[in-house]
Amino acid sequence: MSERTTAPFGRRAARVLGRTEHGAYVVLRCSDPDGPVPSAGQFYMLSTAERWGGGVGERPFLPRAFSVMRARPTGAGTGPAAGVVLEFLLEDVGPGTRRLCELGAGEDLLLTGPLGIGFTAPEGGRRALLVGGGVGIAPLAIWQDELGAGTPVLLGFRDAEHAVGAGLLSAAAVATDDGSVGHHGVVTELLEAELDADAEVVVYACGPPAMLEAVRALCAERSVDAQLALESGMACGFGACFGCVVPTRDGYLRLCVDGPVLDAAVLETAIVAGAGH
Ligand SMILES: Cc1cc2nc3c(=O)[nH]c(=O)nc-3n(C[C@H](O)[C@H](O)[C@H](O)COP(=O)(O)OP(=O)(O)OC[C@H]3O[C@@H](n4cnc5c(N)ncnc54)[C@H](O)[C@@H]3O)c2cc1C
Ligand code: FES
Repeated sequence: MSERTTAPFGRRAARVLGRTEHGAYVVLRCSDPDGPVPSAGQFYMLSTAERWGGGVGERPFLPRAFSVMRARPTGAGTGPAAGVVLEFLLEDVGPGTRRLCELGAGEDLLLTGPLGIGFTAPEGGRRALLVGGGVGIAPLAIWQDELGAGTPVLLGFRDAEHAVGAGLLSAAAVATDDGSVGHHGVVTELLEAELDADAEVVVYACGPPAMLEAVRALCAERSVDAQLALESGMACGFGACFGCVVPTRDGYLRLCVDGPVLDAAVLETAIVAGAGH
């Protein structure tokens, strides 16, 4: 399941089919008629077909990386491509996400992907436990779709407006920093309780660097396998620029081709330079 699905060469247009708001987040649903079905944990480089860069010298210059949140094969593709409807989860944090959040049905995205290596299914009878924070819930949604809606998921958000995003997954246990929804505290407190009850799990996590580092440390302490979907600044997305390198116990890796999902055991720390927001 962690096989790399290879992207067709070059950038292609994908028509936006719908835009929905979920608290602090926007979900864009788009048609990728010439694309393959991505694996959970893979990502795409996205930009808008129009007004990407507000004018001469204005940002954003480069496409931005986004995890695929959902993928539904349409079977309408030609050749080896299956044709697929893709969903992306966006949080407006800067010029690129702001512009993407403005898109509406009928407008075009430009995308390259699917890129990178995603999650690997649990082996040896262990069950999967998903742990997400903020916009990091995106790759966990497609992973839960693949593993089954009954796969337990723990999600952390800063407040009630962001916690609305939990509705995009099935039966999530929620923690909020301000206590407005669910457990008052951080999601790793929920994880600790789960691991106390049953440590025969593989943990799959995506979220801000501090959360990922807490997950990594907790799992390392208890010898629990974990796969972490990391972030770093990405300029190309396919291995050419070396802008996304992260230090690991095995040396530097390019997160866009060797990740973004890494085995937690290869990391000294999940807090990598230039990652997250
Ligand atoms: C593999 C991968 C998957 C991702 N999936 C998603 C997703 O599903 N949804 C989503 O909303 N975002 C996702 N991101 C993050 C998104 O690509 C970045 O936040 C992107 O930089 C936003 O572009 P922008 O122009 O809006 O903001 P920028 O101007 O690039 O950043 C805005 C602010 O956020 C901070 N910041 C944001 N991202 C980074 C970073 N990577 N490194 C350093 N600082 C940063 C900066 O401090 C900056 O001030 C993903 C990133 C990666 C690498
Ligand atoms: S983003 Fe260019 S090498 Fe990874």
